[in-house]
Amino acid sequence: MRYRLVRESDASAYLEFFRSVASETDNLACSAKEAAAMTVEDERAFIRNTNGSGSFSIIAVADDGICGSCDIRIQNRERLRHRAAMGIAVRKEYWGTGVAQHVLEEAIAEAKRRGIRIIYLTVRADNKRAIAFYKRNGFEFSGVHRMLFCIDGKYYDGEQYELLLK
Ligand SMILES: CC(C)(COP(=O)(O)OP(=O)(O)OC[C@H]1O[C@@H](n2cnc3c(N)ncnc32)[C@H](O)[C@@H]1OP(=O)(O)O)[C@@H](O)C(=O)NCCC(=O)NCCS
Repeated sequence: MRYRLVRESDASAYLEFFRSVASETDNLACSAKEAAAMTVEDERAFIRNTNGSGSFSIIAVADDGICGSCDIRIQNRERLRHRAAMGIAVRKEYWGTGVAQHVLEEAIAEAKRRGIRIIYLTVRADNKRAIAFYKRNGFEFSGVHRMLFCIDGKYYDGEQYELLLK
């Protein structure tokens, strides 16, 4: 497994990965339908904009494609740039293998290099697996987002977790 920053040339593999994880879980903001509607060109533009704005994604690359990703999105405003939003997803066949741990650790190291002081995320309150993973990695509960997701007409609360970087 190799861990590195995503680049524009990864657009096709990254989109394939994204479509796969969106179809494997209901715990992401993007639905499988929305992911299926995206094009390689959309993905390339997304990576270009992300990388151009100081945000980044660390990906886990296996021989047969991308199997994990940790995205760090920095705020544009100068007064908010020390805070970054995080998203993480791993292909289901790689859950429990350490891939999530590796992408997270690489993303935290890169965030520190970029001067980010705090990483925050929102997670579905019933996503016990992800919450256990975040807590094990030092993230602390910092609030509730009521009715965060609406899936098939049903609302799900979200919880916010934060990690202070030293
Ligand atoms: C969240 C995610 C990145 C975690 O990666 P992972 O490889 O599954 O994580 P790990 O196996 O290292 O850790 C999972 C933890 O949950 C625990 N766990 C597993 N199933 C659980 C359950 N049903 N209830 C509570 N805890 C559970 C495991 O024991 C482990 O905790 P431990 O280290 O204290 O033993 C991965 O599951 C994923 O991509 N999920 C789908 C996308 C997603 O939910 N992303 C987060 C959106 S905010």
